[in-house]
Amino acid sequence: MGQEVLKTVDLVKKFGEFVAVNKVSLAFTEGERTAVIGPNGAGKTTFINLVSGQLFPDEGKVFLNGEDITTLSAYRRVRRGLNRTFQIPSVFKSLTVEENFEIASTVSQKNQADYSDLAETLGLKTYLKTKAGVLPYGLMKVLELGMAILSSPKVLLLDEPTAGLNVGEKERIVALLQSLSSRMSVIVVEHDMDVVFTIARRIVVMHRGELLADGPPEEIAQHEKVREVYLG
Ligand SMILES: Nc1ncnc2c1ncn2[C@@H]1O[C@H](COP(=O)(O)OP(=O)(O)OP(=O)(O)O)[C@@H](O)[C@H]1O
Ligand SMILES: [Mg+2]
Repeated sequence: MGQEVLKTVDLVKKFGEFVAVNKVSLAFTEGERTAVIGPNGAGKTTFINLVSGQLFPDEGKVFLNGEDITTLSAYRRVRRGLNRTFQIPSVFKSLTVEENFEIASTVSQKNQADYSDLAETLGLKTYLKTKAGVLPYGLMKVLELGMAILSSPKVLLLDEPTAGLNVGEKERIVALLQSLSSRMSVIVVEHDMDVVFTIARRIVVMHRGELLADGPPEEIAQHEKVREVYLG
């Protein structure tokens, strides 16, 4: 087991009376590949938002490398090695692919990384001078993932990285995720069970804002309650 990099303690997030995330405590170690699954509305995206700093919890804490980051802005969390992608890709649409890569490497304060290799791997090399806003949807998602990877985060959070992608694009993403540094802890929210069972060594199941199960894929696949509410 690697060193613990990320920990949440009793995270609670309410929207009015509605409890979207209810006392979720999880710890993640270096190099761990975790999938977060569960029905629509289970609280998966809200959980990711609390960890990345897009949202702040009503109760509970988030620790990165032992440091309490609960009240830090998303930007400061990126600086500390926590980065993410969104369910709907978030790129600078009026800028070129190349400029998007440049911004990503600047924000993370890394040296102007040589992103041409990454662009090649991602199938974006011929699009470097293309405005991100006119890329096909799949490539926009691929670009967003590339931007997150450029910051070489310690923890990478991905919200449905393969949703809406065609088979070829999906394979590209899976291969890319498998090629990432073995020290990076990757947490992927995903509905595609082929992708989940290919990349994850641990599966966390959420249901109605709560943790329903947490374990290795073989165990989760057999879990009675999980099969009932989600896997079917
Ligand atoms: N800003 C918000 N205001 C009010 N309710 C919200 C807000 N964001 C999320 N919710 C509600 O919280 C619940 C959890 O939403 P969340 O987006 O975390 O689910 P999810 O597990 O990511 O679902 P999906 O698989 O459909 O993406 C849902 O019932 C949703 O309607
Ligand atoms: Mg979601």
